[in-house]
Amino acid sequence: MANDENLAPRLGEALPPEIAAFLKVASSEAAARGWRFYLVGGAVRDAILGRAGFDLDLSVEGDAIGLAMAIAASPDDVTVHHRFNTARLKWGGHHIDLVRSREETYPRPGALPTVRPGPINMDLLRRDFTVNAMAVSLNPDDWGCLIDVCGGLRDIRQRLIRVLHPGSFIDDATRIWRAVRYEQRLGFRIEPETLKLIERDRVMLGTITPDRLRYELECILTETAPEKVFRRADELGLLSTWHPSLKGDSWLSEVCARARSLVEKPHPDVYLALLAWRLTASEKEEFIASLRFTKPQARALRDSQAIAENGGILTSPEAKPSAVAAVLHGLSRDSLVAAKCAVPSGVAGDNIDRFMNEWKHSAPLLTGEDLKRLGVAQGPDLKSILDGIRDLRLDGLICSRAQEENFVMEWLKSRPGES
Ligand code: CTP
Repeated sequence: MANDENLAPRLGEALPPEIAAFLKVASSEAAARGWRFYLVGGAVRDAILGRAGFDLDLSVEGDAIGLAMAIAASPDDVTVHHRFNTARLKWGGHHIDLVRSREETYPRPGALPTVRPGPINMDLLRRDFTVNAMAVSLNPDDWGCLIDVCGGLRDIRQRLIRVLHPGSFIDDATRIWRAVRYEQRLGFRIEPETLKLIERDRVMLGTITPDRLRYELECILTETAPEKVFRRADELGLLSTWHPSLKGDSWLSEVCARARSLVEKPHPDVYLALLAWRLTASEKEEFIASLRFTKPQARALRDSQAIAENGGILTSPEAKPSAVAAVLHGLSRDSLVAAKCAVPSGVAGDNIDRFMNEWKHSAPLLTGEDLKRLGVAQGPDLKSILDGIRDLRLDGLICSRAQEENFVMEWLKSRPGES
């Protein structure tokens, strides 16, 4: 089962020293208990590719929770799930997942699998793609030895994303999204038979719950260039399974790239707002309902709709600051960043920048208490007068406390019944 390949030198290069030290400790604790112990999944793929910054998934042919407790400096550093015998360990700022190696069967398409303990080679055979189905031995007798039962190394060399068996997407259709995500992230190609299976099994995405579908979208939104995934997903007829009006075209590619030129690491909700920017208000609501977006996500989408509907004000060189602020006040930062990318106008960009940097912070010098002292009664008038003063300040029409007081006195005089 083991491959000739030994990844010990690559692991040595790829792993931060504290993680390498951790693995040595974990390895001897596991060996002392007679449990075989492996690095599995994406971390192996990334070590072979020389990609830095991966999470660690560790598989134990033994009690993963017991091992995590034996290694942890304190039990408080371990979060356990007894049902699956898994543990998450905090180790010097890293999170490390330890899992009992297992076999899985899928009771029905789209359902979560039934799990039982199994040896490492069975653990690899339950996985999504060959490139993710490799393990590296962390056992003292064959440390670094690659276990590649599915041809993952060959596919990494040929830069291919390949499922392990033709029923893979029927078992778990979220893997369709994962295939596209890895293909675009790694610059690989989905292998032709796997591509045919995607076409055949696309409909199985209908068996997946909204929460799991949304999770896949969230994973895409944290990729370095989500637009590549969206473009490919559109080509494969996948984007429309989220909403028929979504498009992964060159417009989306441009605006997502623009987001990265404006902010170093755009928030995922910026990309989400851009993906849905061209949907109508009612289409956005359908999209929100179909993937059951979280409150902040739904807010980014609804706020971007509010901006899109008021594009005329933002792009008008004559628009007063108070008019721009009236559109943008209270909207999420992510929707504002998305707007800067999506509204193709220097004027709009400047207006949004000035709102974010200056106008948003503009407030009257007078407080509600001051207004009451001047004779304004508690109630809705108080807020509308403060808003009125704020707008006049924004438009440069008043700039001192005396002028603000004057405005209030005039307002009091102008009320019906006042002389
Ligand atoms: N996996 C799977 N089918 C899924 C999800 C995950 O077979 N639907 C397996 C894969 O072997 C994967 C591993 O579980 O490598 C861990 O999953 P995850 O953390 O999502 O993937 P990584 O490969 O670690 O990818 P990433 O680099 O995106 O974190």
